[in-house]
Order: sequence, then structure tokens, then C-alpha cells
Amino acid sequence: MENQIPYARHYDFHRLKITKKQQLTNSVFALEFAIPDHLKKNYEYQSGQYVALKYRHKQQTYINDFSMTSAPHQAELSLGIKMNGDGSSTKDLFEQYSVGDEIEVSEPMGRFTLVSKPHEFRTIIGFAGGIGITPLLSHFKNILHTEPRTRLFLFYGNRRSDEIAFRDELDALAKNHANRFQVYYFFSQDETADNLFKGRLDEHKLKLIINQILHLDDTDEESTIWDAVDEVLICGKGEMIKALANACYNNGILKRNIHFELFEEYNEDIYPQEKEFPLVENIELEFRMNRQNYVTTLNDNRLRILQQLLIQGYPVPYSCKSGICGSCICTLKEGEVDLLENEYLTEKEEQSGKILACMAVPLSKKIVLNFDAETVAY
Ligand code: FES
Repeated sequence: MENQIPYARHYDFHRLKITKKQQLTNSVFALEFAIPDHLKKNYEYQSGQYVALKYRHKQQTYINDFSMTSAPHQAELSLGIKMNGDGSSTKDLFEQYSVGDEIEVSEPMGRFTLVSKPHEFRTIIGFAGGIGITPLLSHFKNILHTEPRTRLFLFYGNRRSDEIAFRDELDALAKNHANRFQVYYFFSQDETADNLFKGRLDEHKLKLIINQILHLDDTDEESTIWDAVDEVLICGKGEMIKALANACYNNGILKRNIHFELFEEYNEDIYPQEKEFPLVENIELEFRMNRQNYVTTLNDNRLRILQQLLIQGYPVPYSCKSGICGSCICTLKEGEVDLLENEYLTEKEEQSGKILACMAVPLSKKIVLNFDAETVAY
């Protein structure tokens, strides 16, 4: 057994040339990369995914993830990057790299994706906060390109109007697809904004949006646009995601149709958990991840397995932490757990021992897991 915690997830990097750099707001810039023919396969991606950039800052190597803003049909791969203030690694990244320079870019990753349905008439709603716009921009460009009948509504929150990143691109998309795409901007620190558009995107704001923007459906006078919503995409900070995901759920959207991507470390549950379990303490956990074996002890079963492993510093893959995206899928080889929520695993996968670590409450004194892929026979 090895107990050394690995430095990071496994990434496959390649050197790519920067073909465009553009400052969009005081704190956001865009980088664009050309993909050489021999790497085209390695950089095939889906909207909603991200890449990691590896770069030097203050004599250290940094690896940070950034979502694509380009859509898969576009030749260049583009990213939106927030500079976290003077002295930050992202500010250095902006200042030190220019068009023509090469930088190490990982192959695409991430589960904040949607199944494409080119022949359906869908209604898709997006909520973005600040730099959380990046994967939504990719999604919306892709859907406008590949789903000719799908309509889209984007609600984008910032503190002030001068902080809206990608405004020109969003407004151009809305203008060019006026019958299918509408974008609304919200401001938490602009007292001059109309009441509807003033304040944070939260449960109260969702009610106003449902009643004042999504109430009349031209395509079906019996119903509202909200009633027709098929999928919801949310990206931003944890508090915003928690408020909006619960508000959408409380207003009738199924959890499996609410997709979100956290743009910060957030250890709270997105959805409240109400089940209670007998207390189990000092749980021995053995697990395999990235072809290495580990053994650790979990204090008790008050927190779920993923939460405890993240607190202990293990780079376990995750995204939603709510049993929806499948990022934390693993196989239970020994022991007993209760899965609080499962919107992802098929019956077959459950029968074969697959579990979701983010939703798994340990019920036995010893648990053995394997996070490395194991194929399920269908
Ligand atoms: S992190 Fe999304 S299902 Fe566990």
C-alpha cells in the first residue's frame, strides 16, 4: 500500500501556440489556441469541458483549469480566464504570455456536458455568475449551431455592467438568433438597474424570472416557457448554485435535468440531505485511484466518502457532489454503503457494485473501493 497523496490529477499536456489574447474586462481575458493537425484528435471536446494550463509563477509551476468558451465546431480552442488580482498567478499568465508563445495545455476534461438532440424542440435555461459564463457560452454556441429548433434563455449575473465578460459575443449571438436566444443581465451592485435586474441570482430572483420573463409561451398558449424547460445549466460560485439548483428543483425541474459546475471549492451539500444512519466510527478505507493503492481511516460516517477524502487531500474526481454528474463513480469491492441520491447510475451499474462516492454514507467498519474504470457488461 502507498499512502503518499498524489500531487494532482493525471493530465496529458501538449504545447500549443497562443493565436489570440484579448482583455475583455478589468479582470477577465480570453486566450485562443491553434490546434495542429496531428493533435486534433487529442483536443476533440464537448461543450462544458475544460483544459488545464501549466505555467510558471514566482518560481513555481501552476496547473489551473479553465473552461472552453469556444464550441466544438470552431477551429480554435478559446478560454476565458479571470485574473485574481495583482500578484496572482492568473495576472502573471496574462502579463507574461503573448500571441505566438507556446504554453502547456492539457487535453479536455470534465462532465458538465449535455447530450445533443438535434431533432428535438428543447427549451434550455442557463444561469451564470461572473466568470461562470465560460462553459455556458460554449454550450449556447454549440446548441445554436447543432440544434436548429432549440430555444435558449441566459440569465447572467455580475456586480456591475462593466464586469460583463463576453458581452459583445453574447449580444451578437442574441441578435443573430433573435427567435431562439435571449440574454438578460443582472447586477448585484448597480443601483440604477431596473428592479427586476437588480440583485443576485437567487430563489427570489428565479420567481421573478418565471413570472415576468418566462411566463408567456408563444408556441403554446396553454402553458408557460418555464413549464417547457427541459434542461437547466448553472455555473458560478457555490452559494449561487445551491440557491438556484434548489429553487429550480422546488419549482418543478427534476434534479437530473439541473446541471451545474462549481467554480470554487465548496464543501456544503447542494441539495439538503435528510436521512439518518446509525453512527459508525473509525472506518478503514482502502481504495485504488490512478493505478495506485491507498489506505486511510475515516473518523465516522457523518460525512460522505468523497467529502472526507477531499478533506484529507486526496484528489478524487468530482464535479456536482450531488449524485448527478457521475464524476466520482467507483466500484464498491467490499463493505456496505448507503447511496443518498443517484441520478446517474443505471440499474445495471448499481447491480455490478458501482457507487457514487459523493453520495455514499459508509455503513460498515471496512470499505474497499476502486476509482479506476471497470467495465460493466451490458
Ligand atoms: S461528484 Fe457528481 S456524482 Fe459525485
